Amino acid sequence: MPRVPARTSSLILPPFDVLNQKASTLRATGHDVISLGQAVPGFGPPAAAIEAARRALDDAQTHRYSADAGIVTLREALCEKLAGHRLIDVQPDEVIVTAGGNQAFMLAAMTLIDPGDEVVLTTPYFVNHEMAIRAIGGVPVEAPLSEADGFSARWSSLEPHITSRTRAVVLCSPSNPTGAVIEKNELTRIVRELSSRGVIVFSDETYLHFLNEDLPPKGGSYGSGEKGGSYGSGEKGGSYGSGEKGGSYGSGEKGGSYGSGEKGGSFAAGPPEGGRYDDPASAAAVDGWRDTVVVIGTFSKSFGMTGWRAGYMLADRHLCEQALKIQDAMIICAPMISQIAVEAAIRDNWNYAHAFHGELMERRAALREGISRIARLHWTPTAGGFFAFVRVADCDDSMALASDILERAHVVTIPGVTFGSSAEGFLRLSYGAATVDELKLACQRLAAYFAAPPADPSGTVSQV
Ligand SMILES: Cc1ncc(COP(=O)(O)O)c(C=O)c1O
Repeated sequence: MPRVPARTSSLILPPFDVLNQKASTLRATGHDVISLGQAVPGFGPPAAAIEAARRALDDAQTHRYSADAGIVTLREALCEKLAGHRLIDVQPDEVIVTAGGNQAFMLAAMTLIDPGDEVVLTTPYFVNHEMAIRAIGGVPVEAPLSEADGFSARWSSLEPHITSRTRAVVLCSPSNPTGAVIEKNELTRIVRELSSRGVIVFSDETYLHFLNEDLPPKGGSYGSGEKGGSYGSGEKGGSYGSGEKGGSYGSGEKGGSYGSGEKGGSFAAGPPEGGRYDDPASAAAVDGWRDTVVVIGTFSKSFGMTGWRAGYMLADRHLCEQALKIQDAMIICAPMISQIAVEAAIRDNWNYAHAFHGELMERRAALREGISRIARLHWTPTAGGFFAFVRVADCDDSMALASDILERAHVVTIPGVTFGSSAEGFLRLSYGAATVDELKLACQRLAAYFAAPPADPSGTVSQV
């Protein structure tokens, strides 16, 4: 084998594949394994996407490259949706369509990071961000977020880690793995402080459509503004919660003026029926964003299309011009058929994911109830995503713990250490793709597992 440089050999593959492999082996030997491991929503793509892809097979254009930046009509449609829903002023030449959010992040990082540059990651971080930075010779720096603050990034948690070597900061809101949402005013402050220091912001907004009703981001003025997203109105199927089990968003304070003014109403009350609802704020909604902000987005989660590999990067047009050189060398363009399918999806219903909100809330409630019965587990619920980031009392080896849980309780969980050294002692449980019954059963198994006495310092147990 040729010599592999340290920037590659030092990378640690996240344990997802190992755990999934182990789960498959257990299943093959007749065990019923419940997966709370994968960060995927349980739903599949909208019919409009599938139909568009089917039709596209007969069109010769589908089988050729698009422009490096992606199909222009897709970029136009995306800009429209982002303006209406996210209050982002962005033009089609400031969008590059990518093969998923991960490729968008790699593209942004390769365009802007030099070897040796420090990149501050709010921690717990999304593991592929850390890997990408390392892979290109950047130096990841952890900025630990506090559980007491609900893992929400604040300027005060970032500032101590900013040095003259800092080139960029990575934000992820709502976060994978914690689900934490950065409060709008705090996000604005972070972007402005970093901008004044010439530090780039990579803002991963993968979970933009996943906000929980039981825990609003603090501050209550999220996304309020004249051009606020008209929640569910005018969009086919966007009736968030209506007709869906348990999805009675807006059941509180009917008729309240939710989000209608500059200092919009409290999230806690929820929007009035037929009222407006805005998802977590975007870093690109901050004035002057083009100076320093690069947004990473994806269609993977919002449209249940992880396998299609379609995402996007938003940045200043001159930066996009530079990034297109990397894009051309990397993949030329995102897969045409996927671009066609996601364009159909977003034109049909940008808020497609909202139809599944009620079901997700039921799953979340089941998990919350189950975890609350396990004395060694503590979950600080957060405002977004579909994760429980759970602290395990007396655990200092979450990898060994997750492995042992899988082995003996037959539940896949993801060890906290995957998301940074300061995330050790936690487990991530995803409820995106597990049914309520599976979640209840998983919690029963975890309760039985943790009821047994700990056997070693890692927090694992000898008997279930
Ligand atoms: C925060 C975050 N960013 C990016 C990605 C990658 O998504 P994609 O499928 O678009 O590459 C994920 C997937 O889990 C994620 O959680």
